[in-house]
Amino acid sequence: MASTSIAILGTGTYSPEKVLSNDELSLSVDTSDEWIVTRTGIRERRIAAGTETTADMAASAAADAIANAGISASDIDLVILATLTPDLPMPATACLVQQKLGIPEKAACFDLNAACTGFLYALDTAWAMLESGRYRHALVVGAEKLSTMLDWNDRATCVLFGDAAGAVVMGASRNSHSGILGSRLATIPLSPDLLWVPGGGSSPATPEEPRVIRMKGKEVFKVAVRAMEDIAREILEQHQVTADQIACVIPHQANLRIIEAISHYLKLPMDRFFVNVDRYGNTSSASIPLALHEAHQEGRIRPGDLVLLVAFGAGLTYGGALVRW
Ligand code: ACO
Repeated sequence: MASTSIAILGTGTYSPEKVLSNDELSLSVDTSDEWIVTRTGIRERRIAAGTETTADMAASAAADAIANAGISASDIDLVILATLTPDLPMPATACLVQQKLGIPEKAACFDLNAACTGFLYALDTAWAMLESGRYRHALVVGAEKLSTMLDWNDRATCVLFGDAAGAVVMGASRNSHSGILGSRLATIPLSPDLLWVPGGGSSPATPEEPRVIRMKGKEVFKVAVRAMEDIAREILEQHQVTADQIACVIPHQANLRIIEAISHYLKLPMDRFFVNVDRYGNTSSASIPLALHEAHQEGRIRPGDLVLLVAFGAGLTYGGALVRW
């Protein structure tokens, strides 16, 4: 097993005040609460206020995680922020969070985009940078204002996503048992149009190629299940851990049926999986830290527990991490 010396020291979240229920959504788009709940498990999602930015949400979640870790912003020397909805093309949203929280100028700050796997890519990167000994405390954030990147007339996508932020503070473990045991990142080079935002980057947004999420849901569903099952098995085998030794799985919260399929294939009962997709929908890179924080707050994760994090996203990126809490 790898070193257990770098651990998650604190977690935090932020979710916008406005709740958008399926019933409210079905007033403006041709859908129903029954369809959305049956096909996805989603009942409601949060929508950020017009003036509220990804950086605002990220800073709130980060402040919560810093307090939870029992340190102060001045102790942070690395900020990695995973997002596909940055405030601006530049500077990085991580730099905006640094300023909002008064994180010192010695801190390295950058954004990372691996779509819905972004948080796990950021966690792995922070783990390596902390293990090098050149950084002491990393703030790792996943934050998204996906409501700005949705076609609110496309019922196949707009019902799935929401806005939120989650964060963790990582640093040297404070006891002999807790720490990140392993992490594995991967990407299946699939056709981008399975899950993409066709315009709005270096190819400008046009009516044909808008800056909104487009997806071939059925294809993504199948690849997502296979990818998350594969990565979970690989990590468990690598660390000689059996599925039943995992106290809690924190899966990317995209669709309850995807989570149920992974539970089925791993032969691990659903009560070991933390689920909050019903209340937030898919919040992309915010999904895992948001679920991790809530699982911890609800007592689903206790000191010494083995926790498995698994995610997939556009790319198709996927990844997993094994943590001893
Ligand atoms: N309300 C009512 N009907 C709808 C809706 C809706 N919101 N959306 C689609 N439908 C209709 C379709 O038009 C279709 O109608 P038809 O049979 O008359 O053509 C019917 O419902 C079935 O549509 P499908 O797409 O086949 O439905 P499916 O059971 O596959 O569920 C879903 C769709 C929920 C999108 C599913 O495929 C899924 O969850 N896929 C994975 C999505 C995902 O996880 N994305 C991750 C994004 S991660 C990231 O990196 C951003």
